[in-house]
Amino acid sequence: MVGMRVLIVGGGGREHALAMGLSNSPSVESLHSAPGNAGTALLGTNHEVGSSDIEGLVSLAREKGVDLVVVGPEAPLVLGLADILRENGIPCFGPHSEGAKLEGSKLHAKNVMFDLGIPTGRFRVIEDPNEISSTVDSFSPPWVVKRNVLAGGKGVTVTSDRKVAEDAISHAIGVDGMVLLEEHLEGEEASVLVVMDETSFVCLPPSQDHKRAFDGDEGPNTGGMGAYAPAPVVTPSVMRRVVDEVVGPMHHHLRNQENPYRGCLYVGLMVDDDGAPSVIEFNVRFGDPETQVTIPLIDSDLGELLLAAAEGSLGSIEPLFSRMSAATVVLASNGYPESPITGGVISGSETSIEEGEICGIVHYAGTDLREGELVSSGGRVLAATGIAPSLREASSTAYEIIGGIHLEGSHYRSDIGHRALER
Ligand code: AMP
Ligand code: GLY
Repeated sequence: MVGMRVLIVGGGGREHALAMGLSNSPSVESLHSAPGNAGTALLGTNHEVGSSDIEGLVSLAREKGVDLVVVGPEAPLVLGLADILRENGIPCFGPHSEGAKLEGSKLHAKNVMFDLGIPTGRFRVIEDPNEISSTVDSFSPPWVVKRNVLAGGKGVTVTSDRKVAEDAISHAIGVDGMVLLEEHLEGEEASVLVVMDETSFVCLPPSQDHKRAFDGDEGPNTGGMGAYAPAPVVTPSVMRRVVDEVVGPMHHHLRNQENPYRGCLYVGLMVDDDGAPSVIEFNVRFGDPETQVTIPLIDSDLGELLLAAAEGSLGSIEPLFSRMSAATVVLASNGYPESPITGGVISGSETSIEEGEICGIVHYAGTDLREGELVSSGGRVLAATGIAPSLREASSTAYEIIGGIHLEGSHYRSDIGHRALER
């Protein structure tokens, strides 16, 4: 298809990265974003429709006559956005609400994995406060406590402090009626984003996120403070195991659903010292910030790839990937993740770098324009991304850009990519 009109749902760094990839696609003519951010505004039209306003999004897609809707966040998918778009004959990149349950319910995801024999940690469900202590006894520390709801990356507590674990469990039982206690997996984390429909699947270059707020993987869990790709922990032989033991069985399962899965399956992995992968979680969308380092490594037309998956014809596409590396460093507001302070003026973010094969860009996230000034409007404000022949160059390019950006009280990690660079 040529001359495609695309609507992107969401307003984070992930959506700006998708918008950049789509605006570089020969197949795409125009872009709309809902609600978008300061970055997507430079590439198309932003619309004041929230990413969970299902009716508003469907009306917008119809009104603009879009050929494809690409959904960034999970919430609209869990709420059934893809179901309604498909009923209206509008191709949607993002699964039906049945498929989205893989992220909406950790218990559902665990049950699917156990049914299919996919490697993952053992777990117990706790509903009765009287069973907290004995269940905690049946796992060794550190304890992993997971709420069974969408919690924006903040529903997981990993702790070696028994009191903290027990408090997290009883809090979750109080608000949700149940909670999962899960075996702690050892190893190195990696993310594999898989574009999938009923005809085929394509694994994008593996990446690694940095979930903790501060250097050295200290501090609270966040949505992600930086990422790089490809992640060398996922060697070709680890990737083969991921495909054989996880992606293949999931594809077989999802393609045979009444409403086959069409979108991105995010496979969050722990890879142990022997290269054995176990699944930490599935998400039903692209990762943020993994997308910022993965999309730039796709050399073929992104619009064509996403449309093919949305229409169920992915089997006819063979995407090409670049041999470059990418690294992204997130600039977070003062107080993120607990209580981010927004509304600060951002300066120095207009920079980009282009030196031979090396390229450096800014992916905007929680940003707004206020009387012509760029201001912060969310916890994760923007990310500086470097793309270069080596990870070292990609990371130094990202740091060169972020070093020139100013936002009062903001913070970023200075060790993105350290595991790969220390190898
Ligand atoms: P999730 O929201 O499931 O991605 O969990 C957030 C983070 O908690 C993960 O990225 C891991 O760092 C950590 N985590 C979750 N589950 C486990 C587990 N079973 N073993 C070790 N770490 C885990
Ligand atoms: N970066 C983690 C996520 O997107 O869930």
